[in-house]
Amino acid sequence: MTMHILTVVSHPRVNSLTFSAAAKFTQGLADAGHHTELLDLHRSGFDPVLREADEPDWSSDRQIFSPDVEAEMERMKKHDALAFVFPVWWYDLPAMLKGYIDRVWNNGFAYGSNKLPHRKVLWLGLAADSKEHMAKRQYEQMMNRHLNVAIAGYCGISNSKVELLYDTLDEKPEVYDKILTQAYQLGRYYDND
Ligand SMILES: Cc1cc2nc3c(=O)[nH]c(=O)nc-3n(C[C@H](O)[C@H](O)[C@H](O)COP(=O)(O)O)c2cc1C
Repeated sequence: MTMHILTVVSHPRVNSLTFSAAAKFTQGLADAGHHTELLDLHRSGFDPVLREADEPDWSSDRQIFSPDVEAEMERMKKHDALAFVFPVWWYDLPAMLKGYIDRVWNNGFAYGSNKLPHRKVLWLGLAADSKEHMAKRQYEQMMNRHLNVAIAGYCGISNSKVELLYDTLDEKPEVYDKILTQAYQLGRYYDND
């Protein structure tokens, strides 16, 4: 099924491995026939700090947020599925992306009187760790629970998946190629489940 997928990328540098992975991922989506839009949080000038104007008003069903937040809500409404591509920082989202969630996935839009209607969300994180190191301390489980249950599930998206690409600081060409191939495949087969 053809979908409109918003891919949100969070990285300070466009020549990063994260951006190369995002490019492969969106190429995969396009090759599968999906419509895609890429939102580059750093270059778009997005301010990730939740200030007074965007604090949830718990007594309102649909408050009006600041213009940049309303614009991002409108952008989300044009898509039926979502993807986030980001480096794993402290086994979590980078602050820029966390701030996007804080501000845009707001009360009365993503939770409360409304839920998000998106069919799927993919969290594609790039980690310097090996899979074994992450497994030893159950960090992958921690991230799955946080992103799939506490965030996506709370906002009504039951089809939420975390995919981690490991060993990002390993400079061997075959490791680099594997990461980019995995990113492409995740786009190409985005709607397989
Ligand atoms: C502030 C910061 C925190 C990081 N925390 C983690 C971490 O918790 N786990 C991990 O595996 N790698 C961690 N890393 C390494 C990044 O995941 C790694 O630099 C990134 O995957 C490399 O991709 P890039 O070249 O696109 O940045 C951290 C890096 C930074 C800058």
